[in-house]
Amino acid sequence: MGVTVSLVLNIERGQSQSTLQNQLYVQIRESILSGTFRHEMPLPSSRRLAEDLGISRNTVVLAYERLFDEGYLQTQAGVGTFVTKSLPERCITVDVPPNKARERIAPVVLKRPRLAFRGQRLQFAEKGAGRPSIDFWYGSSNRRHFPLKAWRKLLVDNLSRTSTNLSDYGSPAGNLELRQALAERLGATRGIRAAADQVIITAGAQEGMNLISRLLIEPGVRVAVEDPCYGGAARAFESYGAAIVPIPVDNEGIDIAALEIEPAVLAYVTPSHQFPTGVTLSLERRQRLLKWATTEGAYIVEDDYDSDFRYDGPPLMALAGLDRSDCVIYLGTFSKSIGAGLRLGFLVVPEHLVDSIVAIKSLMNYGHPWLDQIVVAEFIKSGGYERHIRGIRRLYRDARDALLSALKRYFGEQYISGKYSGMHLMWSLPPSLAPANKFAETALAHDVGVYPIDAVGAVDFGGVWKANGIVLGYSSLSANQIEVGIKRLADAYSGRTSRRRAR
Ligand SMILES: Cc1ncc(COP(=O)(O)O)c(C=O)c1O
Repeated sequence: MGVTVSLVLNIERGQSQSTLQNQLYVQIRESILSGTFRHEMPLPSSRRLAEDLGISRNTVVLAYERLFDEGYLQTQAGVGTFVTKSLPERCITVDVPPNKARERIAPVVLKRPRLAFRGQRLQFAEKGAGRPSIDFWYGSSNRRHFPLKAWRKLLVDNLSRTSTNLSDYGSPAGNLELRQALAERLGATRGIRAAADQVIITAGAQEGMNLISRLLIEPGVRVAVEDPCYGGAARAFESYGAAIVPIPVDNEGIDIAALEIEPAVLAYVTPSHQFPTGVTLSLERRQRLLKWATTEGAYIVEDDYDSDFRYDGPPLMALAGLDRSDCVIYLGTFSKSIGAGLRLGFLVVPEHLVDSIVAIKSLMNYGHPWLDQIVVAEFIKSGGYERHIRGIRRLYRDARDALLSALKRYFGEQYISGKYSGMHLMWSLPPSLAPANKFAETALAHDVGVYPIDAVGAVDFGGVWKANGIVLGYSSLSANQIEVGIKRLADAYSGRTSRRRAR
């Protein structure tokens, strides 16, 4: 229980870890340093303060003695106890705001990396504003379909049979069972022939990008990225000093002809479902990209973030599956297929890079929590993962179909990219509607969240897609919510859409 006296002290008995004497000392000292308790103010006598606080006088005397010893208090004979006129030198630095003090003493130039990702949705969360009731936020796995039951069972089973796994270090490259399970699955689903030791477990795709950067990027090194590009990648490369070379994206993916005239040591691509436009890199361009890397002696980083969700036609073989000259580094993640909160992803690297990547990984964090990895490994091996993917793929396909038909019904034929796979698509707004930013504002006023590409963390270097590109994520919405959301947008623009609908 707290007791307050004129000195504004708040002494807690039993609840605080600190002794009464120490609490008293710290609080009086803080009052002096903050200036609330100043030179001319007398301290209460030790007896009175002890009575007021209901504590022993000896406790107060000892706290006062410490403050005397450290130079905060002085006595004037016959008058009383006061705060010292000149405070001890070391106290004065406390008045200087910490950042100013740093500026004075630090000759070091701090790196100021830009945030990898700062979507508009996070800003909502920070401001504490309510989310729009229909939210086409992109790419979140549907939380109602997290495989909780299987998860709980695998967690409990593994905890009950663990012996040393929680007390010992594991391999920095990741749990071997998980790496084996992934190598097998990637062979079957993405045509990638890799041994388990080429698979390195990471904290999401994001850590994979950092490992690659530490391995390949030195200040000034040229890194080609798609334009527009996933901000998590461009900002990570940039933070290691890369000179970013944006290569335009059109409706067949990254423009290889433009890449061929730009020397670079590394090209970052999202060939299955370009982020954010959603376009698929054509087979002809895939082959040309591999040829470019072989001729240049460059690496390709293939970010295959949402390739488990392909709705129409068989999946296209990954670049890493087509690679015959060990130039592709493959990035995968469980953020889309299971949940971003897991923070688990993986790299598949050519054999000649394995040792270096594992060495970097050991420098960074020496691997991941064993329990999370073994649960995912057993989830895959038991067939549960495949069933889970099949289930949510059906759900997401239904949601995508609902979105496409609602867009057509309310807005007529529209230019939509990225509809064949993934968890979002991109709508290029016609001039008869509004620029993307304005459109998103109007939508929000109607309690619907839709997102211009920079709001989802994409970087548009050339500014071509930004003006009218709207990203619509559908994986967390039901068909009914999608219908209501698109209708609200149509109502907001009714003057501009009714003619189209009538036609
Ligand atoms: C292009 C792209 N790559 C990767 C990721 C996943 O990153 P992580 O695995 O770090 O969650 C995302 C997430 O939205 C993405 O859009």
